[in-house]
Amino acid sequence: MAILLTGGTGKTSTHLAKLLQDANIPFLLTSRKGQAGAPSGMEAVKFDWDDASTYEAPFQHKFPNGETIKAVYLIGPQSHNASPLMISFVGIAIKHGVKRVVMLTGSETERNGGIHSGSVWQHLEDSGVEYCVLRATWFMENLTQWQHLGSIKNEGKIYSACGDGKVPFVSVADIAAVAFYALTVEKLPSTDYRVLGPELLTHDQLAEKLSKGLGRKIENVKLTKEESAERWSEVNHAPEPLAQFMAKLESLTADKREERTNSVVEKVTGRPPMTFDAFVQENKSVWG
Ligand SMILES: NC(=O)c1ccc[n+]([C@@H]2O[C@H](COP(=O)([O-])OP(=O)(O)OC[C@H]3O[C@@H](n4cnc5c(N)ncnc54)[C@H](OP(=O)(O)O)[C@@H]3O)[C@@H](O)[C@H]2O)c1
Repeated sequence: MAILLTGGTGKTSTHLAKLLQDANIPFLLTSRKGQAGAPSGMEAVKFDWDDASTYEAPFQHKFPNGETIKAVYLIGPQSHNASPLMISFVGIAIKHGVKRVVMLTGSETERNGGIHSGSVWQHLEDSGVEYCVLRATWFMENLTQWQHLGSIKNEGKIYSACGDGKVPFVSVADIAAVAFYALTVEKLPSTDYRVLGPELLTHDQLAEKLSKGLGRKIENVKLTKEESAERWSEVNHAPEPLAQFMAKLESLTADKREERTNSVVEKVTGRPPMTFDAFVQENKSVWG
């Protein structure tokens, strides 16, 4: 069997691909750039959520030993209108013989509800396919690969509307390890895992830890929801609906909606999740 990784060049799939490669499990990445987007030694197929004519392409891929795609790691597009596209693609995947779907989504997703891909979750349930939903909290890598990288490097600041809400920040390495398990274990023990890091931290505490680890002052700037939406749009160039969505997620965090921990990563992988201090040490060079 082979595994399809959508969002194939993104933060979690990059780690997941390496785990599959090390385990000698055939896999295929998707990228809007096709093979040109693939890291060396890996294969990718052209796939664009905004172009439904690309949805069949992964299933036409010829694997060296004639394997076919039996499982999909599903990452939707960063769009307020992602769910119908994902549902359409899941239908095509099942038609082509896919037996298991592992969907990465955010904390606020509920089956048939919440503010993420709840209708996709419901569709997976109704379709009869084996599935697992990974509800992850905020990624540590948002500080190295996304919204906070530039401001840490250039201004020594992180900005958000997360206020004093505590977050169990999680590393993408841990999300990928849980995804690997959910995609490859013979019998899935659960259809839903919350993927969380080991400790609850406010953004002030995050800034303190960064300051200590980097040996220079990193300041946490607390924004209102409106200021954050403006920043997402102007600084991170997010389209307006995404900017509003991200600001809303941050304000929910300020309302203590992320304040939970669990032992999922340790139970599934046999090792504790990465701490933020370890993450800072590993990534020191990224922030310059
Ligand atoms: N960041 C967080 O804190 C956080 C927290 C909880 C949940 N999540 C969830 O995590 C998911 C994102 O996962 P990730 O961080 O691993 O991915 P990612 O780093 O955001 O990258 C996803 C990849 O998708 C591809 N892509 C972008 N637009 C596309 C389109 N229109 N069609 C097809 N491919 C497209 C891009 O690759 P190409 O340019 O090569 O096409 C990109 O590398 C989202 O569903 C998000 O809700 C994130």
